[in-house]
Amino acid sequence: MEDRIKELLPELADIEEGALRDKVVAVYKAALERGGWQPEDMARLPSTLLIDPPPATYVEHTRAVTRCAVAAAEAMAAVYGSRVNINRDHLVAAGLLHDVGKLLEYREEGGKFVKSELGRMLRHPLSGAALCYGFGLPPEVTHVVATHAREGEGARATPEAIIIHHADFINFEPFKL
Ligand SMILES: [Fe+2]
Repeated sequence: MEDRIKELLPELADIEEGALRDKVVAVYKAALERGGWQPEDMARLPSTLLIDPPPATYVEHTRAVTRCAVAAAEAMAAVYGSRVNINRDHLVAAGLLHDVGKLLEYREEGGKFVKSELGRMLRHPLSGAALCYGFGLPPEVTHVVATHAREGEGARATPEAIIIHHADFINFEPFKL
């Protein structure tokens, strides 16, 4: 299962620290198992239930958010230098994990994707952060997962959290126009 996760999310290779990469994969493995999914299901799960038909798959959205975040961080580092301190490994890990709770928030029923029982009580930022905490992800990464959406308004405390929040929304709002 680990190899298939790495094939579907090639940006995992951009995480330099092996132990961090392994933890990201471990969270994915647990989320897939608990959600009753196979890794390949991530390539047909919708990126959102709020736009019908969905504009992208879970994998496409996750990869695009991660890549947009890295591109933004590189642009800021090129211009501002050390005035903005961004941990690239944390940024990539957080980009890949920001929506991992959707694997628990969604379920499939009669060929349609709908909210799960858990998802009605805990939106994906909360379930995703719980998974990250349980698998020992650095608090800096769990913070981004917890605060990337509306739950995090007023609570984002790091550049990585702000960048992932905006990368997420630029990969969502254009599809609503
Ligand atoms: Fe999200």
